[in-house]
Amino acid sequence: MGLSVVILAAGQGSRMKSNLPKVLHTLADKSLLGHVLETSKKLNAEKTCVVIGHGAKKVKTAFAGAGLLWVEQQEQKGTGHAVQQALPQLQDEDTVLVLYGDVPLTRQQTLQNLIEVVDDSTVGLLTVTLADATGYGRIVRDAQNQVSRIVEQKDASAEEQQICEVNTGILAIKALHLKNLLSAIGCDNAQGEYYLTDIFALARKQGLAIATTSPEEEHEVVGVNNRRQLAELERIHQREIADQLLDEGVTLRDPTRLDVRGRLQVGRDVMIDVNVLFEGEVILADGVQIGANCVIRNTKIGTGTVIKENSVIDQSEVASECVIGPFARLRPGTQLSTDVHVGNFVELKNSIVAPHSKINHLSYVGDSDIGSRVNIGAGTITCNYDGANKHRTVIGDDVFVGSDTQLVAPVTVERGVTIGAGTTVTENIEAGMLVISRVKQKVIGGWQRPKKPLKKEN
Ligand code: UD1
Ligand code: CA
Repeated sequence: MGLSVVILAAGQGSRMKSNLPKVLHTLADKSLLGHVLETSKKLNAEKTCVVIGHGAKKVKTAFAGAGLLWVEQQEQKGTGHAVQQALPQLQDEDTVLVLYGDVPLTRQQTLQNLIEVVDDSTVGLLTVTLADATGYGRIVRDAQNQVSRIVEQKDASAEEQQICEVNTGILAIKALHLKNLLSAIGCDNAQGEYYLTDIFALARKQGLAIATTSPEEEHEVVGVNNRRQLAELERIHQREIADQLLDEGVTLRDPTRLDVRGRLQVGRDVMIDVNVLFEGEVILADGVQIGANCVIRNTKIGTGTVIKENSVIDQSEVASECVIGPFARLRPGTQLSTDVHVGNFVELKNSIVAPHSKINHLSYVGDSDIGSRVNIGAGTITCNYDGANKHRTVIGDDVFVGSDTQLVAPVTVERGVTIGAGTTVTENIEAGMLVISRVKQKVIGGWQRPKKPLKKEN
């Protein structure tokens, strides 16, 4: 007596004006169908059938290996016809929940509440009352306030069009009833379609009760038909994520100027300034501060670390008490230990930096191992690429790298070395040495600068 979910996703979505099937368009970097599947998974559905039609192959490919039952609806003859295609997959005693691939933000609790009203003599229907009900199927109730039928906008009388309680399309019902009722529907209506909604009038005739429940928020039942609606839902979804972060104790300088496309885990007393974008899996430990305009992707940041404005961090690990930015770029494979400082216009890639080291200005550090308490001067460059292969630069503890140094990899600089400003390091240097490869300074007296020829006045 399990739960089976049937998700309708066969429609074309022509108003998206896209080559991509509508349900593969994304909200917070996850497809619309992906959102629906995530919610349905939380309901512990035994079976999930997805009815596909337009762009079927692309949809299947996108969810290959997700354990879904695919049902093809060759021709779109209406929502009733679509559900009919899934019937062979359903056991009579199952409870069936009908969802829509283009309605992404329905909450688990809303669906749970709906499923709970279903039994052998009761059908569950999710309805909502809207200020403007145009376009929706209207819920017609009898004198006892029981649902007697649903009438589509195009079939509704002027009086029925005044009704503000509408059909969300989401319903739950025993499979046996669904099979019986769907076998009895026709297509004698304004659109010549097999309406799923027609099962309700039939259900009443068969003596079944119809229990309605409602979502907490209107946007839970809003579908996406065009890119405007997609953009609106994105903002609503982002605001929900922001509110959840606020509830978890994060300070958001402006909850409307934050985007999370993935999963953001936060410790206590985290502060996030405006226009920050998080992508993939991001973890911020206690007391982390993120400045304005940062982009942080698949990264872990340790306790008390401060990321200053306009920094971009991708697939990196930053330990506790570090100070990064402004305008720093940490590329994939960067691992910074405790109390590392990375300043403006510094790019790091595939490099490991031990505690208390500083790379504060205008440097490129790639494919490097840097020890503790190292100072990398402004304008230092690791020349890691010889045009064909990448090589590593190894710098020991307590090394002082003067400004404008080039380190031609592969090269090792042992602990305690001092490198004079302007040096090009091409060979390994033993511990404690001073190295300098600067051209000796010349001073030439009595130098006359060339002069521009005088212009004649016209
Ligand atoms: C439907 C409901 C309407 C409800 C509204 C809520 C019916 C007859 N009407 O109307 O009462 O207020 O949803 O949004 O059910 N689909 C298929 N195959 C088909 C037809 C539709 O998979 O043959 C899918 C579509 O991809 C779409 C969903 O079902 O995701 C709804 O279909 P649509 O034609 O948009 O129904 P509405 O006219 O909006
Ligand atoms: Ca629709």
